[in-house]
Amino acid sequence: MKLETPYALLAELTHRCPLRCPYCSNPVDLVRRSQEMDTESWKSLLKQAADMGILQVHFSGGEPTARKDIEELVAYADECGLYTNLITSGVLSDDDQIHRLARAGLAHVQISIQDSDTENGDWIAGFPGAQQKKLALAKSVDEAGLALTINAVIHRQNIDRVDRMIDLAVSMQAQRVEVANVQYYGWGIQNRPYLMPTIKQLEIMDQVVKRKIVELKGAITIDYVVPDYYARRPKACMNGWGQRFINITPEGYALPCHAAETIPELEFDNVRDTPLSKIWADSQAFNRFRGTEWMPEPCQSCDQREIDWGGCRCQALALTGAAENTDPVCELAPGHAQVLLTALEDSRDIEVDFDYRKFSRPDTARS
Ligand code: SF4
Ligand code: FES
Repeated sequence: MKLETPYALLAELTHRCPLRCPYCSNPVDLVRRSQEMDTESWKSLLKQAADMGILQVHFSGGEPTARKDIEELVAYADECGLYTNLITSGVLSDDDQIHRLARAGLAHVQISIQDSDTENGDWIAGFPGAQQKKLALAKSVDEAGLALTINAVIHRQNIDRVDRMIDLAVSMQAQRVEVANVQYYGWGIQNRPYLMPTIKQLEIMDQVVKRKIVELKGAITIDYVVPDYYARRPKACMNGWGQRFINITPEGYALPCHAAETIPELEFDNVRDTPLSKIWADSQAFNRFRGTEWMPEPCQSCDQREIDWGGCRCQALALTGAAENTDPVCELAPGHAQVLLTALEDSRDIEVDFDYRKFSRPDTARS
């Protein structure tokens, strides 16, 4: 198939983060500060990305503002002509830094919220005072004239307040809110029994969010995708493997998606050793599930195969044991019913012990 030009680079500058969200998208085995790429290596990467025709860079983590060079990297990315987005928990930055970042060329900020309820939000984040800091930072983002998206991660412990979380995003002057259901791999799958909503909760949320989309038309854009295990067809994860996105880990490994390291058969190249354009074209990891040739049946002869690209490889691995299987969320997939039954086992309407903290990621801000 024709090699597409990648569209966006997700730069995971660090895995360090003061929050302890139990659904964190970082790998369970976190990269330590001493293994992180230095400033010059990140700058070289940003230049290569711009030269390849990549349009956007998303500075992420962990918490990207835990890096002392965040302002220098944003300024350099802007100089290279990249659109810059800061994906932050909002608890380490402050008003002065947001204004400095705006002057450095930052275009967009994404702040995560854990709940509309302050106490519960702090509890889910594992960080007392987190909610107040997020609200204060959103105010600074607005005053600095930057675009703001709120990322609301939804799960059993906050799903009943999804309407209030959307209202909170409006009050934070966000232009967009992502109603993002937890993804079950990495930390999420370890804590799935405590995070998976009940079927009843999901049905109510679906109605509430759809009503909010109509009610708030013109006031805020609500991005909402039906939760995977509730859908009949899978999402086109990453808009197709190796087609639009490159994810760089703190150590400099180039991944086709943020969870790709969970797939044992993949070999990842490092941008400290190999040019980014060569990795994009030739790397085993990017080519393994690119296009449609790798697909098994029923995807191989399905008319949706260039629409959803067979769904999510990491989810296929997590739920079926093999990344090359059709994403079992698809109702045409072999084993769909069995996988759903297993997943939905965790969504029964039972009291669960709120002990997921013991599985939460550690506070690594100072590691
Ligand atoms: Fe998508 Fe494969 Fe299901 Fe067809 S069979 S809808 S390509 S996941
Ligand atoms: Fe890895 Fe979907 S998260 S392919």
